[in-house]
Amino acid sequence: MAITEVVDFVVVGAGIAGLRAAIELARAGRVLVLTKEELGESNTQYAQGGIAVALEGEEDVALHLQDTVVAGDGLVEREVAEILVQEGPERVLELLTWGANFDRKDGELMRTREGAHSRSRILHANGDATGREIGRALLEHARMQPQIELREYTTSLDLIVEDGIVRGITMLRPHGEISEAYARAVLLASGGAGQVYSETTNPLVATGDGIAMADRAGAEIADMEFYQFHPTALSLPGVPRFLLSEALRGEGAYLLNSRMERFMQRYHPQLELAPRDVVARAITQEGFAPGGAAPLPVYLDMRHVTGIDLTARFPGISWFLRQNGLDLKLDLIPVRPAAHYLMGGVHTGIDGHSSLPRLYAAGEAACTGVHGANRLASNSLLEGLVFGARAAKFMLEETEIAPGVDGRDLIAGLHPGALVDAQRTRLQSLMWRHAGLLRDRDGLRSAAAELAEMGERLPSAVERPAIELKNLHTVASLIVQAALGREESRGAHFRNDFPRRDDLHYRKHSVIREGDLSWVAVSSAPAELAERPAGKPQPQSPPSPR
Ligand code: SIN
Repeated sequence: MAITEVVDFVVVGAGIAGLRAAIELARAGRVLVLTKEELGESNTQYAQGGIAVALEGEEDVALHLQDTVVAGDGLVEREVAEILVQEGPERVLELLTWGANFDRKDGELMRTREGAHSRSRILHANGDATGREIGRALLEHARMQPQIELREYTTSLDLIVEDGIVRGITMLRPHGEISEAYARAVLLASGGAGQVYSETTNPLVATGDGIAMADRAGAEIADMEFYQFHPTALSLPGVPRFLLSEALRGEGAYLLNSRMERFMQRYHPQLELAPRDVVARAITQEGFAPGGAAPLPVYLDMRHVTGIDLTARFPGISWFLRQNGLDLKLDLIPVRPAAHYLMGGVHTGIDGHSSLPRLYAAGEAACTGVHGANRLASNSLLEGLVFGARAAKFMLEETEIAPGVDGRDLIAGLHPGALVDAQRTRLQSLMWRHAGLLRDRDGLRSAAAELAEMGERLPSAVERPAIELKNLHTVASLIVQAALGREESRGAHFRNDFPRRDDLHYRKHSVIREGDLSWVAVSSAPAELAERPAGKPQPQSPPSPR
């Protein structure tokens, strides 16, 4: 028999969105925060470059909005982006009062620039460890709230849905026991799903658990075809795809191809600081070797940069490179794109409410439309703060007293053994090949068929590896379904067979619910959406993705 408990709120995930929400919710009741690893292990922890925020008044806010909208390639929900840029400053200032230490010079906050930003507005901490510092400050603040219980090594299993209303969640505890928590409301702040691809900057925990749970419960899932590939992950054989922050390019790094040419002028007027999707595809194109040969190297080059101490400015990156025999000041650094951030997720409104009563989502697990088809660099930490806090406020307003407890029982299945690992690897490489940076109908169809076949044989064990595999399989299937449906190229979604943006048919969000794909028009009028500056058309002959 499962252990049953009753709390006021359950928050799945202890990254920036989950912790910020929990702090708000703790004003009104007992909050149970679940994380499947130790506290701190989330995408937030690995965010290097910084947090974008317009602290210079109205004009700065307006420009931040415009940059966000342009980067999003016609699919940003303007009202949501306005909230992000307008509420962002207050959330960041609040974070300062909670002890977050951003880098300063002569007492002033330092700001850097990243791709597609018209101004230097990105705050950073400890050089290139911004996420870790924000996570630390939030965690310390959360620990001071007696109403918050932070529960580690606990894997969320499924939402409890009764009469169409989300009542709570089932979970796997550290020693294999299954328990359930009933609550007034559940917030999914479980982050992204980079592990769906073989090449990713994301940690092992990024398996799309919240999105998969919401899908199984019958909630709407939106814009899953938009997976952002970070242009510059370290590309060394046998070494993880370590993130090389966009801030390196913000501080002057060039991109060079194998002929030692700077090539970005052929792709976009903003050169190395073009929107992320443009840079990622340009790198793939420049690395393309005909005849199925191994990709050609593409490099990040900072050797010409003077006037800043690169080791002090980028201590974490410098350390990692040093472990691999490289030095930013002396060496060309080989780079490749890698899966980084999911624009899609649980379909929510501006206050985090999903299509299911009492279910909310915030941060990378959610899709509010704030990023459109391509997120602006360093908007994700801001999103977690702003929409984590908003979702929590709305949950407080909307929910009533806790429902009665109703015992439930879950039966564990069979342990599938090492097969789970093999299936996870197969799924990741299948997604990288067919649903990565460059896609087409044949590849996506074959991915869909292979996923369907895998789905028949997923292990049923109630153990974390098997649960994560099931969730990755759900997320992969959602990505492939949405990518097949969108017969155009826009932002992070590029179809070799439909290489142009098609506003007439696809200025819409994809929404999948219980397996059915439908389309919802973007709310903002076309005139409100700033256009991207023209760049070279993107590649039409598919380079080999590996
Ligand atoms: C980076 O530092 O380049 C990553 C920041 C982000 O993903 O916005």
